[in-house]
Amino acid sequence: MCGIAAYLGWQQAAAILADALRRLEYRGYDSAGVATLNNGELHCCRAVGTISALQKKLIGKPLPGTMGIGHTRWATHGSVTELNTHPHFSMDGKFAIVHNGVVENFASIREFLSLQGYNFYSETDTEALVNLIAYHYAKEPENATKDRFLESVRKSLLHVRGAYGIAVICCERPMEMIGARNSSQLILGIGKDELFLSSDVASFTTHTRDVVFLNDNELVHIKNDSFAITTLNMEEVAAVRQQVDWDTVAVELNGYPHFMLKEIFEQPHALENAIRGRIENDTATAHLGGLQMTAHELRGINRIIFCACGTAWCACLVAEYFIEKIARIPVEVEYASEFRYRNAPLDQKTLLIVISQSGETVDTLAAMREAQRRGIRVLAITNCVGSAIAREANGGIYQHSGPEIGVASTKAFTSQLCIAALLALQLGRLRDLSEADGMEIIGALKQLPAQVKSILDQSSHIQAIAERYQSCTDMIFLGRQSMFPIALEGALKLKEISYIHAEGYPAAEMKHGPIALIAPQCPVLCLACNEENIFEKTLSNIQEVRARGARTIIIAREGSPIGVTDDVIWIPPAHDVTIPILATIPVQLFAYHMGILRGCSVDKPRHLAKSVTVE
Ligand code: AGP
Repeated sequence: MCGIAAYLGWQQAAAILADALRRLEYRGYDSAGVATLNNGELHCCRAVGTISALQKKLIGKPLPGTMGIGHTRWATHGSVTELNTHPHFSMDGKFAIVHNGVVENFASIREFLSLQGYNFYSETDTEALVNLIAYHYAKEPENATKDRFLESVRKSLLHVRGAYGIAVICCERPMEMIGARNSSQLILGIGKDELFLSSDVASFTTHTRDVVFLNDNELVHIKNDSFAITTLNMEEVAAVRQQVDWDTVAVELNGYPHFMLKEIFEQPHALENAIRGRIENDTATAHLGGLQMTAHELRGINRIIFCACGTAWCACLVAEYFIEKIARIPVEVEYASEFRYRNAPLDQKTLLIVISQSGETVDTLAAMREAQRRGIRVLAITNCVGSAIAREANGGIYQHSGPEIGVASTKAFTSQLCIAALLALQLGRLRDLSEADGMEIIGALKQLPAQVKSILDQSSHIQAIAERYQSCTDMIFLGRQSMFPIALEGALKLKEISYIHAEGYPAAEMKHGPIALIAPQCPVLCLACNEENIFEKTLSNIQEVRARGARTIIIAREGSPIGVTDDVIWIPPAHDVTIPILATIPVQLFAYHMGILRGCSVDKPRHLAKSVTVE
């Protein structure tokens, strides 16, 4: 996923854009660039590496002009070189473009343009698009009825197959800019005598919170301080203006060394936000207003399929345990990338629930659209208001986690688990869950923020443990029942933050092969947080790996008789519905400290992006 930003107003554009790109850096950080227009001349500065490399270049070469476009890249087409860095320019030098997405038919467009005499300096799909715009502009007659600039962009996009969020400027059109979107988020920010375009509101909330979320196949034509929105079919669109409630503080570090640590420590507050206003004490249930389903419709569901990717997929696995145990509804969990092509048998009593922090993950969006195409109702659990998934789902639940800037999902994950627990409670109380059991769950959820805080207080203890394991090359995470998805999530966190090879398994599975991996340089972290007999069985698995030379870290409820281990992290005893959330905190902190000890870029891990918006 890349980040685009654009500015048109009265301030120097380059400085505005560099700051915007810094706030978008979590989306991609292979390279970055800015282009401005001043007195009919396009100026450009691009740099491979992080935004700070671009900012250093801009200090030495400030770009003039009060309008411009910027881009931070996560490479899809073309290697990470300055030539492939956006903005890209048309061969005739008239147009500059920034693009988030993939032009799937770029090869045929390049071939067509080559036959018209165009040649290319980069390997990117985006350069094909900007030259297609130049081609149409050259052929478009100047006439009073249709705007030549808008028409050339519109006609070009009609040829494009794929996803795009773009901003385009033309040296012959001062104080004008065109933005357009299809599947890649694009938001218009409306300031005082200045306008912004971006992939994420976080990039301009220091300037304005008055926004318009563009929809697929819409173009916005900015002229001076006004704008008009139309569709690819030239229909006028009434702008729906909204106020963003995210404050800029949320996208600042606020004294933390990294966004990942800040967001780990924000979890008590994020969980309070996820719960706020959603518990009904007098009927011992939850009330999730956005479901858009009546009690009768919810009772009529006899199968739930969860779909997601990555960490959100791990959240689905925990949700499966909650809903099957509390509401007794059969649940299946699917990788979105698999479900979208599997043509699973579905019927009208099936409910699809997608989980996505960004609300823009392309496979999750596609899985949702496939189910809807077959007449299946889809609910979304997401963190991003106005995201494609939020807008296209039939109903849903916002996480209210606040912006999650670190590439590794932390507070969003535990909020997703909390919302899954609330959903299980609401569904359960519509079926056979007793009032007393419902009140127990409510009591457990209310204690959650304080319990999470008590585990966060162990951060230095967990850091000391990480110091003893920082040089390991492999690691295994084990858990049973609802601890198994947390083992998977802990392994994923360690992989993506410290680049250590890590795998999660159901503890009992070790004997079926993976135990062959056990050796002193392959430690085992075991989540032994279950009750009674499951706990004892997990202890047996721990002793099996210890007997074969593994060092062990155990996460367990305070006071559990865990026997011999190298290291232990205690968590407060809690209800089955909140234990998975509590057990997550230590594995997040462990991954963070391991990444720091190994000198990794914990907020911007190599090869990763915050949201995967391309296949
Ligand atoms: C999580 O740490 C990863 N960054 C990644 O697996 C992420 O969870 C996945 O890409 C799904 O993203 P989404 O929740 O925005 O859909």
